[in-house]
This record gives sequence, C-alpha cells and structure tokens, in this order.
Amino acid sequence: MERGLLITLEGMDGAGKSTQHRRLVRHLRECGYRVRPTREPGGTHAGERIRAILLAASTGRLAPLAELTLMYAARAQHLEEVVRPALARGEIVVSDRYNDASFAYQGYGRELGLAAVQAFDRIVCGKTQPDLTIVLDLDPELALARAVGRETRRKSCHGRFESQGQQFHQRVRAGYLAIARRAPQRVKVVPADRPVAEIQREIRGLVETLFAARGMK
Ligand code: TYD
Repeated sequence: MERGLLITLEGMDGAGKSTQHRRLVRHLRECGYRVRPTREPGGTHAGERIRAILLAASTGRLAPLAELTLMYAARAQHLEEVVRPALARGEIVVSDRYNDASFAYQGYGRELGLAAVQAFDRIVCGKTQPDLTIVLDLDPELALARAVGRETRRKSCHGRFESQGQQFHQRVRAGYLAIARRAPQRVKVVPADRPVAEIQREIRGLVETLFAARGMK
C-alpha cells in the first residue's frame, strides 16, 4: 500500500461503537494487517486533555463555536501526531469517531450548519478524509438508555453530551443519516439494534468490500 487506509466508526452515544471498534481492530490484526487504533476527541496527550474539557459536566455550557474549535484543535493534534504518520507508513487507521462527528454533533446537533464545520475541516483535515465510515444507527432513546446504564455501572457521571435532551440527539441522528445520503459510497449506515456478532459480521463485510475496491486481499 502506498498510503494506508482510514476507517472511522461513528454513531450515537451508546450505539456500541467502542465494542465494534475493538472487535474490528482485533479482526484486522488477526488477518495480518498493521492497524493503528485510535479515537476522537483525544488520541494524543494534548488531545486527551482537550477531551476532558469537552466531556466534563463541570465545564458547563460552551459556546457552540468554542466546542467546534476545541474538537478541531484535538483533531489537528491527532492528525499530525497519529493519523498522518500511520497512513504514511501504510497502516490501517481505525478511529472511534473522526470528522463526521463534528458535522453531526456541532453542524446538526448544535445547529452551527455545515459551512462552519466545512471551513474548519478544509484547513485541518484537508485531504485526509476517511476511506470508509461506518455509522452505527440507533434510536436516540435506546442509545441514551444504554449510554446512561453504562455510566451508572462505571459509577461515572453523565457527560456534557449524554445530558443533552432528546431533540439534540434526534438532530445528531438525522445529521448522520443526511451525511450518509450525501456520500453513499463512503458512508455506510449499519442498524445497531441487533446482536453484537451480527453487526460485527456486517462491518467486516463492508471493510472487505473496501479492500477489494482498493485491490487489497
Ligand atoms: P465518544 O468518546 O465516542 O463517547 P462515547 O464513547 O461515550 O460514545 O465521544 C465523546 C463525545 O464527543 C460524544 O458525545 C460525541 C462528541 N463529539 C462531538 O460532539 N464532536 C466531535 O467532533 C467528536 C469527535 C465527538
């Protein structure tokens, strides 16, 4: 491979992204690929500190543009330290969220609109766009119940995003679905209200289709 591949997992909080991320990374490694797992916001030392500000309930309300700017600040660091070097080495980068989250959460959820997000995206991500994006789609009511249940089990408190109302999460979901409609070749919607193994099989199939399209075994 001249350049590696960038695969991103997206979806609502509580849709099961992190489980599928772990399983996909393990599967690709078992197949012998060099894989670089990572996540956003975060993925670097500085990025994880920015993540803490973004997610902590104690941060309180952020102006939507401040939130967007911090997301892209973490992303710029992530691209320079992790994503671009790994792609240059020919690795498969599998990221638990990437730039589509900013379009869905800040563009649609916070209603900043796509133009504002695109402006940041052109500067920060530029040509480093995902080769394949998997959106785990789940009704926000179900997804939130799962996310909150998980946090209760971990005894952690609700973060800034989980504590947003239903309407916010409905906008985020509609945002992801709109993104998928605009870029159907790249963005694949996978219904997430199903057994983990079934979702996993579907994701593997989508990744194999990408590999075939790129002439990889
Ligand atoms: P994530 O770590 O995926 O949380 P979880 O594992 O609990 O689903 O993401 C943290 C939150 O950050 C999530 O609510 C979505 C939000 N987010 C944005 O709003 N914009 C972005 O660009 C990114 C990357 C995440």
